[in-house]
Amino acid sequence: MRKIIITLDGYSGTGKSSTARIVSEKLGYTYIDSGAMYRAVTYHFLNENINLKDTQNIERILRNIKIKFRKGRTFLNGQDVEDVIRSMAVNQYVSQVAAISAVRVKLVQFQRKLGEEKGVVMDGRDIGTVVFPNADLKLFMTADMDIRVERRKNQLLKKGIKESFDDIRCNFIKRDKIDTTREDSPLMKAEDAVEIDTTDLSLNDQVNNIVKLAENLIYEN
Ligand code: DC
Repeated sequence: MRKIIITLDGYSGTGKSSTARIVSEKLGYTYIDSGAMYRAVTYHFLNENINLKDTQNIERILRNIKIKFRKGRTFLNGQDVEDVIRSMAVNQYVSQVAAISAVRVKLVQFQRKLGEEKGVVMDGRDIGTVVFPNADLKLFMTADMDIRVERRKNQLLKKGIKESFDDIRCNFIKRDKIDTTREDSPLMKAEDAVEIDTTDLSLNDQVNNIVKLAENLIYEN
């Protein structure tokens, strides 16, 4: 039985994170949410009022940032930030922060380290293209915009957060544009990734399709 690396890239609201989490549980693998790392850094920069153009200062601050994952929650310098990093304030700035090369260098290094042991499912935007270009199984997830917005709205509601359809839609459109057009590691499908349009797929179907693909690789001779 081999241990493999599975990457799930794509747009917000396509079911990426939920799918990655359940697939990892079914396979007994570690799930790593790379978006949470960009969100945690963004939260820190907002709190500290950091000028996003001051590269030297950003590099210095990045040296002192420690991100950890424990029991499905994200910790920043020892503080549980899992809920606050999903706020609209972070949504509004995360793509700008994620476009800063110094931030990407630091987080990609961390992501590669977490993948050293294999047996991981990592979701994000550049995982199959940049972080693990030799990953065993690469998925790229898309979905119709309105479905993406509806899913995110319901996801937030379950956490007791009320955001309007239009605000979420505007934020998705803005983030998609920055994420796909930034110079450093833009969001795009890796040539060898399997594209999954989740518009009409249930979470169950998504998960089962991916688990089947993974098991074919895990048990192949
Ligand atoms: O997956 P998410 O919505 O939590 O990601 C938040 C933002 O982080 C997303 O708009 C772009 C950025 N991101 C990235 O640039 N690279 C990744 N590997 C993961 C996320």
